[in-house]
Amino acid sequence: MNENILKLKEWIANSDNVVFFGGAGVSTESGIPDFRSVDGLYNQKWKYPPETILSHSFFERYPEEYYRFHREKLVIDGVQPNRAHLRLAELEREGKLRAVITQNIDGLHQAAGSKNVLELHGSILRAYCSRCRRPYPQEEMNKGTGLPRCSCGGIIRPDIVLYEEPLDQDIVSSAVHYIRNADVLIIGGTSLNVYPAAGLINYYRGNKLALVNLSETPYDHYADLIIHEKIGEVFSQI
Ligand code: APR
Repeated sequence: MNENILKLKEWIANSDNVVFFGGAGVSTESGIPDFRSVDGLYNQKWKYPPETILSHSFFERYPEEYYRFHREKLVIDGVQPNRAHLRLAELEREGKLRAVITQNIDGLHQAAGSKNVLELHGSILRAYCSRCRRPYPQEEMNKGTGLPRCSCGGIIRPDIVLYEEPLDQDIVSSAVHYIRNADVLIIGGTSLNVYPAAGLINYYRGNKLALVNLSETPYDHYADLIIHEKIGEVFSQI
């Protein structure tokens, strides 16, 4: 076993206050492409750049085009939690992991059994009316055709944070609380490119920050332990 993985295993064995902060790289081994890897969503050719499509102003102006992208690229049938999701849920049950803080919108941490999941960017498994905010089941939004409409006439939208939109401040405050008080902070499967999410890790005050990511990130210098391997592989060993 790689000595860094062994060290991470020891940190976890000796702690009851581990916090996980993750991104799209946690779900790639479940078959969901990430955003910025070579084959990631933002490197695929679309009429508009995906970062533009996933923005508030684009949704307002071109909702049909948004939903074409949403149903083709964000909704992936039959995805299952992978070894990383499952091990995190197990660590929570063992009383070691306090919270999963995720930028992902796929609901796979909850599907794996994690209870305390802070979804910084929301979830495509929840929908609401963009005009009257009435909640709706996700099926028509994710599986239907055409524009899903509310009884008030408004367009139903996913409960995700689009570019140009603010994060839920209660979720941010809770994430800061867990990170600030964490003994061990494990960051996994994220390029740490997007703020304010990436900035939250600056609240960590401990000396056991582990970064498990296939590629380098702007925070590599900041980590106490770096493992550039597949997160499912690593988590199957800890
Ligand atoms: N194991 C470990 N790391 C992985 C794996 C894997 N199996 N697969 C991919 N990665 C790494 C990639 O090397 C990359 O650095 O995960 C990272 C994913 O980075 P991004 O694609 O930028 O995804 P993320 O960091 O979650 O993006 C943040 O950007 O567009 C917004 O809202 C969107 O939540 C998203 C945010």
